[in-house]
Amino acid sequence: MRIIILNGPNLNMLGEREPAIYGTKTYNDLKKVIIDEAKKQRVSVIIKQSNHEGKLIDWIQRYRNKVQGIIINPGALTHYSYALYDCLKGVSIPVVEVHLSDIKKREGFRQLSVIEPACIKQLSGLGFNGYIEAINVLLERNHSS
Ligand code: DQA
Repeated sequence: MRIIILNGPNLNMLGEREPAIYGTKTYNDLKKVIIDEAKKQRVSVIIKQSNHEGKLIDWIQRYRNKVQGIIINPGALTHYSYALYDCLKGVSIPVVEVHLSDIKKREGFRQLSVIEPACIKQLSGLGFNGYIEAINVLLERNHSS
């Protein structure tokens, strides 16, 4: 099974960015955690990050027939990108939405995810473990289909 993991704006700043909310570990640390889990589960992962909405959309379109699942943390795009919603809704592979922080317990504008209806699951507030759990959600779904 091959999965693409997409991270949106500002996630490259992990470690430096609001450590009280996002922790002190860096984006490279996150990549390592994901790669270790992928090896353990014998899943092939493509990991990408962009600060640009269109770039994320281009990747989803480009990889739509090459992967069996998408894990996405769209950063703040979560809360307003209907373009991302349309794109995820339009591909026929399962999508899991991940957030490091618990978006339901933060500012009002973060409580709505406009991409949630395009996803099979939302994992929020689990830190790096959210990505691990997301891999396992996609694996279970792949095995049972
Ligand atoms: C985030 C939550 C978003 O509200 C925020 O804009 C981010 C990160 C998270 O992982 O907790 O950039 O997606």
